[in-house]
Amino acid sequence: MTLLKNQNTPIDYTIVKNKIAASGIKNIGSASIRELVSLVNDIEKESGKKFIRMEMGVPGLMPPEVGTQAEINALKMGVASKYPMIDGVAHLKDEIARFVKNFLNIAVNRRSCIPTVGSMQGGFAAFLMLNKLNPIKDTVLFIDPGFPVQKQQLDVLNQKYATFDVYNYRGDALKEKLESYVSKGNISSIIYSNPNNPSWICFTDKELKIIGEIATKYGIVVIEDLAYFAMDFRKDYSKPGQAPYQPSVAHYTDNWILLISSSKVFSYAGQRVGMMVLSDALFTKEYATLNKSFGHPQFGHNLIYKVLYALSSGVTHSAQYGLAAMLKAVNDGKFDFISEVKIYGERAGVMKKLFTGNGFSIVYDKDEDKPLADGFYFTFSYKNMSGDDLLERLLYYGISGISLGITGSEHSEGIRACVSQTKSTQFKDLEIRLKQFHKDYFN
Ligand SMILES: Cc1ncc(COP(=O)(O)O)c(C=O)c1O
Repeated sequence: MTLLKNQNTPIDYTIVKNKIAASGIKNIGSASIRELVSLVNDIEKESGKKFIRMEMGVPGLMPPEVGTQAEINALKMGVASKYPMIDGVAHLKDEIARFVKNFLNIAVNRRSCIPTVGSMQGGFAAFLMLNKLNPIKDTVLFIDPGFPVQKQQLDVLNQKYATFDVYNYRGDALKEKLESYVSKGNISSIIYSNPNNPSWICFTDKELKIIGEIATKYGIVVIEDLAYFAMDFRKDYSKPGQAPYQPSVAHYTDNWILLISSSKVFSYAGQRVGMMVLSDALFTKEYATLNKSFGHPQFGHNLIYKVLYALSSGVTHSAQYGLAAMLKAVNDGKFDFISEVKIYGERAGVMKKLFTGNGFSIVYDKDEDKPLADGFYFTFSYKNMSGDDLLERLLYYGISGISLGITGSEHSEGIRACVSQTKSTQFKDLEIRLKQFHKDYFN
């Protein structure tokens, strides 16, 4: 149990202390996101006080009406009684291909555009496939920090992974660092998110080129997780078919799988529908190993008819109609999806200032030489306090986050904050609580 300097805290000291003890969590710093959610729910209930909740990346916005209406119409048409095609309904596949062309400037066959049950399933299916291609290449490399559940997926699959924190390897330094892993010959795939959960770093084109060229040189597939597609608000990626485009490794290699989630960018997390897009070259590539285990050599065929079939036999029919309608509106230039989510960047700007104005520092603060964008997440630390102590102490001040320690970051002093659930009406409370924290701990 972490010691407090002042027990007269914004949330009743005894309540927080007892709830932490009752939760059975031995070390708050290594608690999972869902464990923290449950603990904070309990403290809020007992104390009657509202937290500044920054532990979980749930969208804080309403889903677009065009998606909801399309789902209602599809349900009324009776789609619920029919099994969806495993590779996705035809008009959704067309809209995904248009979206990828319009916002990434990448041409791809509709066949290579596949809906998945959230990006979570896309990642799981990719791991299942990629570690089957070559018995020597049995390890996934994470460019960390990263989304902890993807490592949990590999644990569930009993597959191996390697990881490094990219903090000290930005720009040209990334090449040598990546080579030091991939040259061992055991890496099947490289995964990262961009913009990055939890740090909100965004790889530059120079870095994506390095990753792409290494993928080609070593025959490695890159899984590029675009869960926060186009949400680097420093650039305007919102115009279909017009530069600038969301940067992607897909410009620098043929060996890629993109995971494009609808959860954050379309506030559609509850419907569990995401997009998996692979290069046409990878889709059609043939492997003797696949032929041996599945009776068919083609990558794309096995991904759809063996792996996705086995996992969920497709994606909820009506959700596919909802996603297709949103994508069509976006592709037709009738719905500006970026303006809807820009609010997260504005919030982050204010909240980061409240933290830095009260003795806190931003941990991941640069993309090469440029200051980081304001977006869905940011990371912070307090002087030389350990992340575990900081996370636990902040609970007494009604502020929650997650420890960077569980994300593969070497900055275990840091906390990830998600801005999505903090309304502007709570900024005052946040300020008062941070001020008191700083007063209690500044020396
Ligand atoms: C980096 C990253 N990848 C994937 C996901 C999961 O996306 P989905 O809801 O589409 O399964 C998330 C959700 O927080 C995420 O942050």
